[in-house]
Amino acid sequence: MSDDSLPAALRPRRFGSTDLMVPPIAVGCAPLGNMVDTFAYAVSEADAIATIHATVASPFNYIDTAAHYGDGESERRIGLALKEIGGLPAGAVLQTKAGRHVPTNDYSGPMVKQRFERSLELLGIDKVDILYLHDAEHTTFEAAMAPVGPVEVLQDARRQGLTRFIGVASGPNDVELAYIETGLFDAVITHNRYTLLNRTADEVIEAAHQRGMAVLNAAPYGSGMLAKGTLAYPRYAYQPASATLVETTRKYEEICGRYGVPLAAVALQFSTNDPRITSTIVGMSNPARLQQTIDLLLTEIPVDCLEEIAAVPIPRAEDPEKDRWK
Ligand SMILES: NC(=O)c1ccc[n+]([C@@H]2O[C@H](COP(=O)([O-])OP(=O)(O)OC[C@H]3O[C@@H](n4cnc5c(N)ncnc54)[C@H](OP(=O)(O)O)[C@@H]3O)[C@@H](O)[C@H]2O)c1
Repeated sequence: MSDDSLPAALRPRRFGSTDLMVPPIAVGCAPLGNMVDTFAYAVSEADAIATIHATVASPFNYIDTAAHYGDGESERRIGLALKEIGGLPAGAVLQTKAGRHVPTNDYSGPMVKQRFERSLELLGIDKVDILYLHDAEHTTFEAAMAPVGPVEVLQDARRQGLTRFIGVASGPNDVELAYIETGLFDAVITHNRYTLLNRTADEVIEAAHQRGMAVLNAAPYGSGMLAKGTLAYPRYAYQPASATLVETTRKYEEICGRYGVPLAAVALQFSTNDPRITSTIVGMSNPARLQQTIDLLLTEIPVDCLEEIAAVPIPRAEDPEKDRWK
């Protein structure tokens, strides 16, 4: 299907101020890292490989991973899937992230370089489209920006053509804003902080958008509860959801039930319909999710339903340190 023949909601968008076009949805491959401590369920290698095959065959041929997901397991499985089809297909976009070595907390430049080299090896490719500084809250701004530090490693990778663009993918707003203000980055990723249940990343999204950067909003379902529901998956940002978050989500479920609309559609379109957001990163670990995500994006949501959802008070943001990516 050519881009023009796609429904508007599925059409690619410009990646910030660059010439790269990306789909409105990126497939988040954290679950493919089989991170039972983080997601509370296992994902088999077969499901992971099938999900990547479905991803590259879909309009959402945009893969998001990180060295950190399952300590390389997500990248290894993506690499296996890509090998089976002769590499990353033309037109597909792949991004990864490099940061600290978790067991030693080493966030030095040489370690970040080593992590990125391992990513290329596991993925079985010689370059990526976008490389992000991952979870920079685990180092200081000064250390990251120092000569031969992590940010210089990313810039060197861009100069050498090992990545086309660089970005920052962290948690707390102050960390994200410090890197945005350097003007060195092409893109930013926010996560779990711009959903129906939490809007704290709004200032990050606005600052990056004003600078012409690409804005990627990850975890529109807050790691799953807004898609799977409060009964099946009462978790938010990789931990049990608080009573307030569950209670608010139940109100959303009741409203959506009356209108016959999946809550996941409202949660997803909350992100995809924000004109400042280039692409929304949705985590998934089975191939059926691709068609489901298309259906959710194309779901027509009655205005009255959206108004009722908007009238539910947003819970006060909990301690931002609590929803760190582990
Ligand atoms: N620092 C950073 O840059 C950062 C931080 C966090 C996340 N991320 C990226 O963003 C991605 C998204 O975040 P996330 O995966 O944590 O959370 P998420 O996208 O909010 O939710 C993912 C969960 O939603 C479920 N799901 C997806 N589509 C569904 C559907 N149609 N129906 C029912 N359930 C559905 C998935 O289930 P199944 O697994 O069963 O398919 C998975 O459990 C990550 O995978 C990662 O790539 C980046």
